[in-house]
Amino acid sequence: MEESIRFDYSHAAPFLLPDEWEPYADAVKLAHHMLHNKTGPGHEWLGWVDWPIRCDQAEVLKIKEAAAQIRHDSDVLLIIGIGGSYLGAKAVLDIVGHTFSNTLQRDRRQAPEVYFVGNQLSAGYLNHLLDIIDGKDVSINVISKSGTTIEPAIAFRLFRDYLQKKYGAAGAQKRIYATTDASTGALSKLAVEAGYPRFDIPRDIGGRFSVLTAVGLLPTAAAGGDIDALLLGAAHAHAEYRTPELQKNPCYQYAVARNLLYRKGKLIELFVGYEPQQRFFAEWWKQLFSESEGKSGQGIFPATGAFSTDLHSLGQYIQEGSRHLFETVLWVDEPESDVMIGEDPADVDGLNFLAGKGIDYVNEKAFEAALLAHVDGGVPNLVLTLPRQSAYYLGRLIYFFEKACGISGYLMGVNPFDQPGVDAYKENMFALLGKPGYEQQKMELEARINRRS
Ligand code: PA5
Repeated sequence: MEESIRFDYSHAAPFLLPDEWEPYADAVKLAHHMLHNKTGPGHEWLGWVDWPIRCDQAEVLKIKEAAAQIRHDSDVLLIIGIGGSYLGAKAVLDIVGHTFSNTLQRDRRQAPEVYFVGNQLSAGYLNHLLDIIDGKDVSINVISKSGTTIEPAIAFRLFRDYLQKKYGAAGAQKRIYATTDASTGALSKLAVEAGYPRFDIPRDIGGRFSVLTAVGLLPTAAAGGDIDALLLGAAHAHAEYRTPELQKNPCYQYAVARNLLYRKGKLIELFVGYEPQQRFFAEWWKQLFSESEGKSGQGIFPATGAFSTDLHSLGQYIQEGSRHLFETVLWVDEPESDVMIGEDPADVDGLNFLAGKGIDYVNEKAFEAALLAHVDGGVPNLVLTLPRQSAYYLGRLIYFFEKACGISGYLMGVNPFDQPGVDAYKENMFALLGKPGYEQQKMELEARINRRS
């Protein structure tokens, strides 16, 4: 097996006393058994736990075939989805792909341009996207477990219509790939009726835990990413984090460290990375923990930052603001590439002392400097180090966080696998928009809005 991801909580040690861990050992074992034996709250959503070793290879093959077809006949792939049906795919594509993928020469990219849509309700965004795709061959991967989420449903209606006008009904049918619940839901029904190629989101895997299913795999494969490596990484993580022993399981140590810090008033966790390609991974992480733990009046508030950029915006607050936060830092040991700093005979900027060094060396010093400064400023730091930034390590990291999140939620005493708060917003929106069946709710909500104005 490849080298492991390293979890280092030594920079949080001043805030985590050695004897504070021990009482968690039994609670962790209980949470572990609840996850693996499916006996805890939300047990009907635990399909992700063994997914890396039970993922259907026939479905993976079907995904690869569809991806090859998309690469063959499309200049553009539109990925329609929101929340768990968006962030995972975007996170993976950004990390395994080229930063400027969409503007790279086609023969270097060897894949369509990829645009995400249906993840907000901006008319401006839609119109700008229509400008970009004009005259290009387009395919759509619409992703929605329920099929009724309003943002992707509206975008799908718009772009399905666009494809039908451009290619005719039969042509459009071949360019629309639906990723949805295996048997129920509006999108599933629509896909069957229209004859769109369909990919399953297993019933027992919720949105934010679905990135390793077709939800993340089809977009990744279509963009040329290595989905076998992604799944292999997750399978290795599945094996590595299988022990219920807290002392031997870094994934569970992360879950406990968060809980200990939370109980000491560290209410905000700031997840930061030093590679811009990780920005959406941080967004995926944010959704994972926010929807899993933020309920019953509890939960660490997950926030994200991108360093060193945000050291110049958030840095002041982190160093000296309210002492209610801790950081989880993602660091990559071996950069994908490096850029050397040159010698300047005039040395006007005084940087010749860095001549011959790589940018990655400077990035590493920024990481070390911020780590020490923030710890000195009273901010505990948890550090996760990836040997390399690759599809394989991304698979490992995704599984690390999914499992840590399940354990951490159980330690907090919440059901980590539902999201009643998200559903509350969706229901209100249906009512306010006048969806049939919501008449009473609409009247009540409008009365409340009118009272306020
Ligand atoms: O995690 C979740 O359940 C949500 O964020 C959903 O993924 C999101 O609301 C999209 O839902 P759907 O896939 O049903 O369109």
